Parts: sequence; structure tokens; C-alpha cells
Amino acid sequence: MTAHQHAHEHVHDGVVHVHPHQHDHEGGPAASLTEGEVIERWVDLEHVHYSYPDGFEALRGVDLRISRGEKVALVGPNGAGKSTLMLHLNGINLPSHGQVRIAGMSVTRDNLRRVRAEVGLVFQDPDDQLFSPTVFDDVAFGPLHMGVPEAEIHARVERALAAVGMAGFERRTPQRMSLGQRKRVALATVLPMDPSVLVFDEPSAGLDPRGRRELIGLLGGLGQTLLISTHDMRLVAEVFPRTVVMDGGLIVADGATAAILSDDALLEAHGLERP
Ligand SMILES: Nc1ncnc2c1ncn2[C@@H]1O[C@H](COP(=O)(O)OP(=O)(O)OP(=O)(O)O)[C@@H](O)[C@H]1O
Ligand SMILES: [Mg+2]
Repeated sequence: MTAHQHAHEHVHDGVVHVHPHQHDHEGGPAASLTEGEVIERWVDLEHVHYSYPDGFEALRGVDLRISRGEKVALVGPNGAGKSTLMLHLNGINLPSHGQVRIAGMSVTRDNLRRVRAEVGLVFQDPDDQLFSPTVFDDVAFGPLHMGVPEAEIHARVERALAAVGMAGFERRTPQRMSLGQRKRVALATVLPMDPSVLVFDEPSAGLDPRGRRELIGLLGGLGQTLLISTHDMRLVAEVFPRTVVMDGGLIVADGATAAILSDDALLEAHGLERP
């Protein structure tokens, strides 16, 4: 995978995220999005509300657009709704109201397979991700399922494990590995499908300092659209040009990371700290 930088810099010059860029309309049907619009809204949440079965409304009207190739950090206190939002991006949660689109496709019960080929989601808890008797089986599961030729699977698994610093662990049993090791393998499970969107829920939690450094290197080098939730503000400052702040099921700020991280009143109001 190669790092590639997209031309989104123009977008992020303030705490309020604006899209000043007008793109060429290439004459698609008026009701649907042009190619340029799809790229600007590669991840697109519109007025998303979500209530858990017990009636608790964890998302109370979320609007979020992320363009293709953009790297965005999602921060906010415990219970803000970060994980709940992320679970919408591959249709594990479907909105109670509003809508989620990925690469121009509406996320519905009927197209979960296509959506999941586009979005690699890594859960906060690696035990939700890893279920196979060996690391190899867990990392090979996605590509096997997507019909990648078997001859190619070994190479892809090896590459994914190397990317997270877990080369050589193929025959080990995830359930008998340390938390940090399981976190790394969980990340590796989504890499072999090469999805256009990577969504990582607190990827640095539980990693040792070297693992955290390696993660920062990995995230910085990924060319995909990237959304991660984290409480690690130094990680945010190092890797993510754009930061979204959530609290109480709403997005309360969205803008350039440098601007967000220097807004002490905002940080304090939402239980955050400068790195
Ligand atoms: N299965 C559930 N049923 C009912 N309420 C839930 C459920 N899961 C989460 N919630 C509630 O939804 C809200 C948002 O939770 P969520 O896990 O999305 O927060 P978060 O921002 O990811 O927090 P953290 O930083 O602790 O990971 C919380 O108030 C939580 O108690
Ligand atoms: Mg969470």
C-alpha cells in the first residue's frame, strides 16, 4: 500500500468544517450524485439518529461527510456515541432515522455485502473481531469469503501481519495472546481485503510504546479513507489533519486538528485535553 495525499487541504482551515470547493458537474441524473460529489462524501451520514433496543438514543442527529482519502479522528468522552457511530459505517447498526451512504451506496440490509467490501471496521474489543483457532484463519477469513484465489491468500495474510508487526504469529491462537497482540491482529484482519475505508475503534488502547509508534507509522502510511476513535490526543495531533468531537450523541465540533486542539474552552467543555 502506498501513501497518497488527496487535495483536501483546502477544506480544513477552521473549527467549523466547510466545503467551499465547487466541483464540475459531469451531467449525471439530477437526483443522483456526480462522481465528484461521491468522492467528497465517500462517507456520508445525514441526520442519523440511533436508539438502542432499550430505548436509549445514543445518536441524536449526526451529520458527517468525509471525502475519499481523508484521515479523520473521532474524539469525545466515554459514552459520547463514537462506537455507536462507527458501527453504522458497515451496517452493524442501521439508523433509526436518517441515512448512511458509503461510496455513494445507501447502507441498507440489502447491500451489506457490498458495503462491507468497501469498509473495514475494527472493533474496540479485539475479542469481538477474532473467533478463529489460529491467527492465520482470522486474517484469511475476509479474503477467503470475498473469493480471493487461495494461492494469493498466503501472501496477503503475510503482508497484513507484517504491517502490524505480527509476522510469524500465523499458527498462534488469538485467545491465548496478550491484549496488545490481539489488538494488532484485529487490525490485520481488515487489511487483506484492501477496503477503501478503514474504521478503527480505539486502535492504540492497550499498545505498548513501541506498538503505539508502529501504529502511528502504519496509520500515517495508509492511503485509504481513515476514521479512528481515540482518547490518545498525541496520536490525533500526529496523524490526523481533521478532528471531529462528539458528546451526548451529537457532533459538537468538526475542523482542523490544530484549531480544535488549541481551543481550550472546547476541550474542557467535552472532557478532552491538549496532547
Ligand atoms: N447495547 C446498548 N444498549 C443500550 N445503550 C447502549 C448500548 N451500547 C451503548 N449504549 C449507550 O450508548 C451511549 C454511547 O455509547 P458508545 O459505546 O457509542 O460510546 P463511546 O463514545 O464509544 O464511549 P467510549 O469512549 O467509552 O468507548 C452510551 O451512553 C452507552 O451507555
Ligand atoms: Mg467506544
